[in-house]
Amino acid sequence: MAVDTVLTIAEIRSVVAKWRQAGEKVAFVPTMGALHDGHLSLVLQARAEGARVVVSIFVNPLQFGPSEDFARYPRTLKDDVEKLQTVGADVVFAPAAAEIYPVAFQTSVINKKMSEGLCGKFRPGHFEGVLTVVLKLLNIVAPDMALFGKKDYQQWRLIERMAKDLEIPIEILGCDTIREKDGLAMSSRNRYMSAEEREESALIYKGLSSAKAAWERGERSLDKLTALFKDSISQCPRMKIQYAEIVDRFSLEPAGATVAEKSLVMIIAVLFGDVRLIDNLEF
Ligand code: PAF
Repeated sequence: MAVDTVLTIAEIRSVVAKWRQAGEKVAFVPTMGALHDGHLSLVLQARAEGARVVVSIFVNPLQFGPSEDFARYPRTLKDDVEKLQTVGADVVFAPAAAEIYPVAFQTSVINKKMSEGLCGKFRPGHFEGVLTVVLKLLNIVAPDMALFGKKDYQQWRLIERMAKDLEIPIEILGCDTIREKDGLAMSSRNRYMSAEEREESALIYKGLSSAKAAWERGERSLDKLTALFKDSISQCPRMKIQYAEIVDRFSLEPAGATVAEKSLVMIIAVLFGDVRLIDNLEF
């Protein structure tokens, strides 16, 4: 069956209401389009939960800073819908900006702590834009569960936090990062790289993996672990580390100078000219 695309809040609510009346479970995968296998794996996971699957495609202007890539962000709706068809999504919600942000719109969601470090430090206002649109979309679709990729680790944890803090009765699931053969995390922004940059970008996962391997061999100095990542990136002088931190997986607070056993994650952002790549690995 073809995947229907609906454009308005009223239409998507009426589709979901029919499923609810029939006693079906509803899963939601919010995206900004330019879909890759990482997104498709979220849909497959939602289907495995036995749920109807709604995918939203909306390039959210609120989460881009004035000098960021909102204008050039790839918009590939037709292609995206075809891909969603192959993995059995049920409906695509692709609203226009005016549907989500009508003229009188003036409310937003601000996290006052976990949003401040890591990406939040370099992208002021970004997470306010993300949380605001995600809360709106959750209120519109009203699913049982929503699925997010762990590639955007801070985003996933912030959404989880928002759901707890604001008593949103929806299960928030974090799903494993899907990687290319050489380890690069799949991202809609990978297409901005030249062939040469694409090849060199494999150093990111290599660096994360060597830090994790050292952790597994018993290395507990965070400086030494971070240095292993930095060594890998330094092999390509055009690649600049924006940040590389080892933090607690749940609070995203810095893990201290040396640590005993703890649930940690190394989170990084790297700049390749004007392409910004993020990734992480749980230790
Ligand atoms: O991860 C994304 O694609 C976006 O940040 C999201 C969650 C769809 C909100 O616009």
